[in-house]
Amino acid sequence: MSIRLVGITHSYGPGTRVLRDLSLVVPPGETVALTGPSGSGKTTLLAIIGLLTEPSAGRVLFDGVPARQRGASLDRIRAEMFGWVFQTANALARRTAVDNAALGLLIRGYGHVEARTRARAALDAVGVGHLAQKEARLLSGGELQRVCIARALAARPRFILADEPTGQLDHATTLEVIEALLERRPAGTGVILATHDLEVAGRCARIVRIVDGRLVEEAR
Ligand SMILES: Nc1ncnc2c1ncn2[C@@H]1O[C@H](COP(=O)(O)OP(=O)(O)OP(=O)(O)O)[C@@H](O)[C@H]1O
Ligand SMILES: [Mg+2]
Repeated sequence: MSIRLVGITHSYGPGTRVLRDLSLVVPPGETVALTGPSGSGKTTLLAIIGLLTEPSAGRVLFDGVPARQRGASLDRIRAEMFGWVFQTANALARRTAVDNAALGLLIRGYGHVEARTRARAALDAVGVGHLAQKEARLLSGGELQRVCIARALAARPRFILADEPTGQLDHATTLEVIEALLERRPAGTGVILATHDLEVAGRCARIVRIVDGRLVEEAR
């Protein structure tokens, strides 16, 4: 599924316009880094793409069809389209890695056996299959973030939306997490990630920067 943003403008109130007439096309499976200074609107834009925030103006299209007119409920579109990864790895501390990775599938109504099988495969895919039975509270930050990536991937979303996924990790761990996210993802799964880390951005196929509310494509 492709994503197309057309003329996206967003303000959180009078005199606070964050995004101005911004447009972007992301083909299926593409990896895009979203950069820009703190407060430039990266998180806002991810929330608009992920249908969590309705923009003040403009449209979000999936395969050319307005996302909010696709016929299915917004919740269902969100669940089928997107997996989220955040700066703070959020997991249930006293549940195992595989239980945490299965969580999104259980919420979607999968049976326990299938949810755990898929979760297990996702943990293997991102290199933490050996930690499947370990409780989340016993994992390192980087291990836990990879469990969160597995949880997002297990539901087979079209895109992972990641908001500063390595913002709290050291350099070596950042590289492990980025490899899990960008190089071990299933073919066809796109990634849009907000980051301040230029090395992380450089691993994506494209880098776009928010400057004064508009998107500037960085030359590679
Ligand atoms: N819910 C909100 N209500 C009012 N203003 C908001 C809200 N969320 C964000 N803002 C404002 O919108 C602007 C963009 O915020 P946003 O969080 O999108 O920036 P960002 O690029 O993600 O920043 P950072 O790099 O620090 O995460 C900021 O000025 C912020 O204060
Ligand atoms: Mg942000």
